[in-house]
Amino acid sequence: MTDKLQSVLETSEIKPNIGSLVQNGKQDLLSGKYAAEIRSLLEERGVLVFPKINFTDDEQRQFTATLGNIARERTGEDVFTISLDPEKTSGVEYLKGSLYWHFDGTMQPLPILASILCAKVLSPTGGDTEFANTYAAYDGLSDEQKVELEGQSAMHSAWNTLYYYDPEPEQAKLEMFMDVGDIELPIVWTHKSGRKSLVLGCTARYIVGMDDKKSARMLNGLREWATSPPFHYTHKWSVGDMVMWDNTGTLHRATPYPLDAGRELHRTKLEGEEPILA
Ligand code: OGA
Ligand code: MN
Repeated sequence: MTDKLQSVLETSEIKPNIGSLVQNGKQDLLSGKYAAEIRSLLEERGVLVFPKINFTDDEQRQFTATLGNIARERTGEDVFTISLDPEKTSGVEYLKGSLYWHFDGTMQPLPILASILCAKVLSPTGGDTEFANTYAAYDGLSDEQKVELEGQSAMHSAWNTLYYYDPEPEQAKLEMFMDVGDIELPIVWTHKSGRKSLVLGCTARYIVGMDDKKSARMLNGLREWATSPPFHYTHKWSVGDMVMWDNTGTLHRATPYPLDAGRELHRTKLEGEEPILA
């Protein structure tokens, strides 16, 4: 791609309710001159795709820093390797949960504002990343459903995700995941902007104070609704693509890929700026 300087942010919508392509070149993005515009487009569209931008780690770090404060991993890295290959990353165990709908930093007081992935090596099969717009999914509920969700909260636990891929875990592993703690979160997040989104994902264990069957039915139904085609986008990667998501108003997951496929994406994250409040 030629890197001519643009005087506008060049964007086009991918689907009506989710996703925009951004076509500007490296220099434009690294200059920071579009940072405010990119942030507001991200909030509006949920997912931004920068096709084959081919950022190096340094450029990814620099671009991320134009948008806010970089959030470090628990292990200290600011650019983190996402892969299921134990030779490539330290985080394989908890990344297995990335195959199920979630948002990043669910268990933290301020969940991650946005995450950014750059594709380095792809799997010959699978390994797409799917996204769902939880603002649009909330807006699409009936008035009756909205009233039903008012004041409801769910208990979220990292250890719930363990059962998705390791249904009979070793006790020590369960204890390790339980040590992460539990957090009660409203199902409807009223953001500072006044917009509302649904707070769901594989960490959601039960709706507080609700009969367990009714709670399971409701959580599953909401997940099915929020991730259904009108709110959903699948990114099929090319090497060099960068994809960024508003982690406060979307869910995401990877589609299955072989552990040894060598798939490797590099992730940076922006620190959260607001807690999840009803
Ligand atoms: C992540 C994540 C999905 C993927 O990086 O937070 O969930 O497709 N990645 O690897
Ligand atoms: Mn994730």
